[in-house]
Amino acid sequence: KKNLLPRTRKEIFETLIKGLQRLEYRGYDSAGVAIDGNNNEDKERFIKLVKKRGKVKALEEELYKQDDLDSKAEFETHFGIAHTRWATHGVPSAINSHPQRSDKRNEFVVIHNGIITNYKDLRKFLESKGYEFESETDTETIPKLIKYMYDNRESEDTSFSALVERVIQQLEGAFALVFKSIHYPGEAVATRRGSPLLIGVRSKYKLSTEQIPVLYRTCKLINQITLFLRIKIINVKNICNSRMKRLDSSTCLHAVGDKAVEFFFASDASAIIEHTNRVIFLEDDDIAAVTDGKLSIHRLERSASDDPSRAIQTLQMELQQIMKGNFSAFMQKEIFEQPESVVNTMRGRVNFESSTVLLGGLKDHLKEIRRCRRLIIIGCGTSYHAAVATRQVLEELTELPVMVELASDFLDRNTPVFRDDVCFFISQSGETADTLMALRYCKERRALTVGITNTVGSSISRETDCGVHINAGPEIGVASTKAYTSQFVSLVMFGLMMSEDRISLQKRRQEIISGLKSLPEMIKEVLSLDEKIHDLALELYKQRSLLVMGRGYNYATCLEGALKIKEITYMHSEGILAGELKHGPLALIDKQMPVIMVIMKDPCFTKCQNALQQVTARQGRPIILCSKEDTESSKFAYKTIELPHTVDCLQGVLSVIPLQLLSFHLAVLRGYDVDFPRNLAKSVTVE
Ligand code: G6P
Repeated sequence: KKNLLPRTRKEIFETLIKGLQRLEYRGYDSAGVAIDGNNNEDKERFIKLVKKRGKVKALEEELYKQDDLDSKAEFETHFGIAHTRWATHGVPSAINSHPQRSDKRNEFVVIHNGIITNYKDLRKFLESKGYEFESETDTETIPKLIKYMYDNRESEDTSFSALVERVIQQLEGAFALVFKSIHYPGEAVATRRGSPLLIGVRSKYKLSTEQIPVLYRTCKLINQITLFLRIKIINVKNICNSRMKRLDSSTCLHAVGDKAVEFFFASDASAIIEHTNRVIFLEDDDIAAVTDGKLSIHRLERSASDDPSRAIQTLQMELQQIMKGNFSAFMQKEIFEQPESVVNTMRGRVNFESSTVLLGGLKDHLKEIRRCRRLIIIGCGTSYHAAVATRQVLEELTELPVMVELASDFLDRNTPVFRDDVCFFISQSGETADTLMALRYCKERRALTVGITNTVGSSISRETDCGVHINAGPEIGVASTKAYTSQFVSLVMFGLMMSEDRISLQKRRQEIISGLKSLPEMIKEVLSLDEKIHDLALELYKQRSLLVMGRGYNYATCLEGALKIKEITYMHSEGILAGELKHGPLALIDKQMPVIMVIMKDPCFTKCQNALQQVTARQGRPIILCSKEDTESSKFAYKTIELPHTVDCLQGVLSVIPLQLLSFHLAVLRGYDVDFPRNLAKSVTVE
């Protein structure tokens, strides 16, 4: 038991740094850590706070430079917090990074994801009480507020979680918070509203209870825990009698914790997956506290619909899925994973023998979806492009009007939404704030909500009525690649499921299902063009601008290709609808301007040829992505990239890949860090 957990400050610090490195893709302009300064009961307790601008590596070096990690000091219970920041309020700097603190003694320290929208009022209030602020962040109001609550507590016995409860009653906005305090040594309190937060539970023993009860009304907390302890001991004994010889009753009680249990609070499972795959996803306004090694979860108040327990779930994620392997960047690895990731998206869902598609997460709502009056598909960035890419095939297969919306704009317009609408929320992370807000907006209007996400347990997958997990596996590179192709395939599968009974559509369905079957092999074929695309990148990488043009099924390919290029190469790039060429973009064309044209053998082929003529007539030198069997386009091309031909509505899965590869090579040649583009984060949990 003693050897189970890291106990020294050094070990704790290493665990925190490793966790931060795994989360770095979500934000990386500065980082910080707070750990216990000593474990000596006789000396005054203090919290060691180290913060540094830059990547996590810089923080690690800084801490070793300060070199006071006493590797021998052991702790009964030890609790450290760490954070990697992506600036919203205040420039990236050590002082603005987290943990933020209550005062120079670090009495209370806090890490925060999200935005506190009423921070100006809070700050004014706290300043009027004599608190001096050192940073420009909204977060700093939180440790100061909890110190204020502590200094003004009614009783000496006020618990840490009771203080946190009071603090969050004053906060507006979105947050996931973890608190640490010298006044509550060895205790951790975490809470969330609108930003993701999970708890990993690691124990040497197989855990036998699956549900953690949620306790309501904080004042009765202590009694209820005791009561629960008794009940659980009885249950556990009954359930795992055979194992009881090896376990004493307290080690069984992982549900309320014991010292052989280690708890990890994290915004994302990738930070903790090497320690445990057993997690509890917290709900909004849950307050989770670890006190004396025991975990309890309680809430501000109970509403009738509240589930009174939180399940411990087992994640399927493997550590190697979040490692780079032989690739130089996560993005490159993820591009090359696409033959497998699309198979995983289809696995168990598409039956190629019977030509049927079954999306288990939607089947109970299918009737309702079929009766709806329109589909609204909402997302941001790449996820929005997946909706644009499949809109036409969805209109065709569902015979419903399909609206495709950018979440922020959808909200800005107060778009009318009705009970008989079905609203899809596409999000790799399942946490994008704009998309989540749009989801809540549609829920209020009683539309049926469907999530299409890549993250099990994410806010969007939990808050929607039903949904589809795209099963692409963890995506770490900020520029989304495999999630796009899996979202694309998921939406096509949805269209196929909707059209199963339509006799007039059977031939078309058959054609698309055969297309899906050969997709993985064709993706491999496209990936084999990597070297050729690298050569093209060598020609283009010094350019300032790159236009990507196409129409019909491949308009989305152009938008997505241009997004990839601007995200990681910082070149100006624009996805242009070829139909709009003569209404403006043609003015950009000359000998110098590099133009990529996506021209596929589909119903838009002839119209694309017209665009090609217009470009060459202005001495443009188009690089053409075309179908292998297309002999016409290549005659006018400065260069061609020839792709295998598939059914028109799936061609976009193939044609986007050369643009993913091109952006990757351009970024490497321009000397940029592909996985960490400046100013961007993987998951944008602020509006
Ligand atoms: C951020 C990322 C993009 C992503 C978008 C939507 O802007 O940098 O790569 O496409 O968010 O993210 P989601 O997780 O909702 O798909």
